Amino acid sequence: MMMAADYSSEKGRATEAADADLVVLGLETSCDETAASVVRLTGDGAATVLSSIVHSQIDDHAAFGGVVPEIAARSHVEMIDGVARRAMAEAGLDYGQLDGVAATAGPGLVGGVMVGLSYGKAVALARDLPLIAVNHLEGHAVSARLGEPVAYPFLLLLVSGGHCQLLEVRGVGDMTRLGTTIDDAAGEAFDKIAKALGLGYPGGPALEKLAESGDGVRFDLPRALLGRKDCDFSFSGLKTAASRLAATCETDQDKADLADAVQTAIARQLAERSDRALKDYADLHEHRLFVVAGGVAANRTIRSTLEAVAAKNGFAFLAPPMAYCTDNAAMIALAGAERLRKGLTSDIDTAARPRWPLDEQKALADPAHKPGRKGAKA
Ligand code: KG4
Ligand code: ZN
Repeated sequence: MMMAADYSSEKGRATEAADADLVVLGLETSCDETAASVVRLTGDGAATVLSSIVHSQIDDHAAFGGVVPEIAARSHVEMIDGVARRAMAEAGLDYGQLDGVAATAGPGLVGGVMVGLSYGKAVALARDLPLIAVNHLEGHAVSARLGEPVAYPFLLLLVSGGHCQLLEVRGVGDMTRLGTTIDDAAGEAFDKIAKALGLGYPGGPALEKLAESGDGVRFDLPRALLGRKDCDFSFSGLKTAASRLAATCETDQDKADLADAVQTAIARQLAERSDRALKDYADLHEHRLFVVAGGVAANRTIRSTLEAVAAKNGFAFLAPPMAYCTDNAAMIALAGAERLRKGLTSDIDTAARPRWPLDEQKALADPAHKPGRKGAKA
């Protein structure tokens, strides 16, 4: 009880400083990256990354062909303190110079989320700082602002290993979901098909590299949801068909050709559904900006395909700098700073959430997946 009361007074302190610079330590541990970063948010909304440390656990999981939750959680425990200290050292700051500490509180592998969130709570308590519990997806949603001071609102395509959504983003804590995947995420399709092709984990970057030497025209992959009037996605049919075809590939050239066909098919579906969302969005907004974020946004073919769709619809196009497409803590620090600016701080007893939709109302009213025991998914 005492702790919660202390927190309300901190909340007051944050809201008073309406236009002052805010410096926030961000922590990210929701999947297989242990990351910490310090970001400064100035009064005019511009963000400067003072440090961004990402420790990838890829080597720990490679032998298993995917992320093993128990191994991930244990590795986060071992790494988080050193990674956070390095982020502070590289920023050249003392904990006393921070205005808040932000940590991913979900969605993700809950064992890992608990590690970063607990560490953030410890720093907040020890240094008498406000805690900001950040939704990992909100981090991706603001990540383009790490490259340049993008103004809200914008239309966002969030494409990562676990999510594929189109969102109208008006600011932190203020987003409407326009569409989502009804089965797999695009990154998941990349990873599973890459695995079937015998490529390493994570599959997306490996498949992109292989596709460079391929020509996929001879493969006829299924096109999902063609003609549907909504902005939803589906990748499971493509995943199954491509995985079957992978088993029939005899030469390296066959595999490269299939990789190219898969990448083209995923890019095409992302473009088709985005095209629909852009048209709906243009009816409602004058400020026409289309942002793509999340790990899959690192794919060059996908970026250029989406850029072309944006241009066709009269939208400016933006993707985060490559380093901030895949998981990182700078995006968590920035989302935390923007929340702190709005006075949206969190109680010290905030729980880690394995599931946490960005647009909770939409996820509950119109679930793309049946809500499970742990609540609505995306
Ligand atoms: O955003 P992220 O780092 O983690 C999640 O929040 O899921 O995204 C990881 C996903 C993985 O599925 C990975 O294969 C995919 O992003 N990815 C890519 C590329 N780089 C990462 N997919 C296609 N092409 C890439 N270059
Ligand atoms: Zn992510």
